[in-house]
Amino acid sequence: MPLSGVSIVVFDAYGTLFDLSRIADATKQDLGDRALGFSELWRRKQLEYTWLRSLMGRHTDFWHITGESLDYAMRSLKISDMALRSRLMEAYLTPPAYADAAKTLADTQTLGLKTAILSNGSPTMLTSATKSSGLDLCLDAILSVESVGVFKPHPSVYRLVEDHFSCTADSVAFVTANGWDAAGAAAAGFRVAWLNRGGAPREVLPASPLLELTDLTSLPALLEP
Ligand code: LAC
Repeated sequence: MPLSGVSIVVFDAYGTLFDLSRIADATKQDLGDRALGFSELWRRKQLEYTWLRSLMGRHTDFWHITGESLDYAMRSLKISDMALRSRLMEAYLTPPAYADAAKTLADTQTLGLKTAILSNGSPTMLTSATKSSGLDLCLDAILSVESVGVFKPHPSVYRLVEDHFSCTADSVAFVTANGWDAAGAAAAGFRVAWLNRGGAPREVLPASPLLELTDLTSLPALLEP
């Protein structure tokens, strides 16, 4: 079994446990058929800005990056509705969890394994999201990149898990919906399951996930403590 012998299962947050498409839905009323392109641009810029700021050595937290990338997306589509901006930022504090998230986390704990989030999100964002969705009840740890002041996929981010749990990288299963995060976690020595919800092609990067999932529910059966 590819994930046998792991003791900790670590999840990415946005797009993996939390459904960003539901935040995007909030724009449909205001933006109509421009909503999807707008939301995709916002997310793409949000990630780009994490990588660019990491390379520039100019860190700011994910809340600010989320706002700055939203400003870019609004500028790009010539939208100046500040009430919409506030609503979208607010929505980021309470993103809905995917339907399969809570049960997967609970089933993982029932197997005797620890569960954690490792995310770009700031501690405030992650506390708010996990509390409002109820996922806090089935998580042993919530780890934020803010502890190291650089974003994924910097290796020091993934090392936060080893430091927190006093474990080795090969005892960690890492689950993420982001192909580039899967590569970063695999390069850090984790045993990675890429949650490919949308049927995306594999990234061509120096390290690869061990396996691919289409949803979270199939994960617990692959875990053997
Ligand atoms: C996170 C982003 C990458 O939660 O989805 O870290």
